[in-house]
Amino acid sequence: MIKIKNVRKIYQTGVVETHALRDVSLEIKDGEFVVVLGPSGSGKSTFLNVVSGLDSVTSGHIIVDDEVITDMSDKELTNFRRRKLGFIFQSYNLLSNLTVYENIEVGKNLSHNPIEIDELLEKIGMTIEKDKYPYQLSGGQQQRVSIARALAKNPSILFCDEPTGALDETTGKQVLEVLQRLNKELNTTIVIVTHNIAIKDIADKVIHMKSGEIYEIEDNQQKKLVEEISWS
Ligand SMILES: Nc1ncnc2c1ncn2[C@@H]1O[C@H](COP(=O)(O)OP(=O)(O)O)[C@@H](O)[C@H]1O
Ligand SMILES: [Mg+2]
Repeated sequence: MIKIKNVRKIYQTGVVETHALRDVSLEIKDGEFVVVLGPSGSGKSTFLNVVSGLDSVTSGHIIVDDEVITDMSDKELTNFRRRKLGFIFQSYNLLSNLTVYENIEVGKNLSHNPIEIDELLEKIGMTIEKDKYPYQLSGGQQQRVSIARALAKNPSILFCDEPTGALDETTGKQVLEVLQRLNKELNTTIVIVTHNIAIKDIADKVIHMKSGEIYEIEDNQQKKLVEEISWS
């Protein structure tokens, strides 16, 4: 469970103050599939960065599984992120001199309670590609490997910042399919931030952001399968 209470984030650059988050409050339940939707500059990445402890808040509280992360020292936060959280970004950040299998192994080595690599390869549909190097893979395949790497340590929450941002619709949907399956089969809480409105239909909960504020929280009663959505 994630509890976000009255969070504000102000960036100060010289004399300019940017109110990136203005009094944001929200709860995310375990196993929920959450999509944070908003235009560029609305504060989505800031939201994800503070909720995952990558960045500090200006005021307010964030509690993840009864741990108050806004009270933690840098060292405690690093440890907390390592234990509990996985991250996916628009860029895949795979190690180019390691194979698919070895890249996933990097994630696995971070945990005392890892998921077997063969199981993950199957879940991302890349068992036969396991000995390939990143340059031998498409963008969508590389993103699926980065998902497996993030999940190898069995995090309770996976944060994804524009995970399909660099992909065409077909490969983007393959990536979302993997996320949907992992959410269902491993019960991993998934938080995706995106400006792509089509993605909202696969969420349990849609957070609409504008100018640093949440202006609507939608509970999606009829969530769709990835194969039922399209954005072209
Ligand atoms: N490190 C930073 N320093 C100063 N301003 C920032 C920083 N990061 C983001 N901002 C500003 O905060 C606002 C929200 O940005 P961001 O969270 O990246 O939005 P989004 O991800 O929705 O595009 C923008 O006005 C952006 O310019
Ligand atoms: Mg962003």
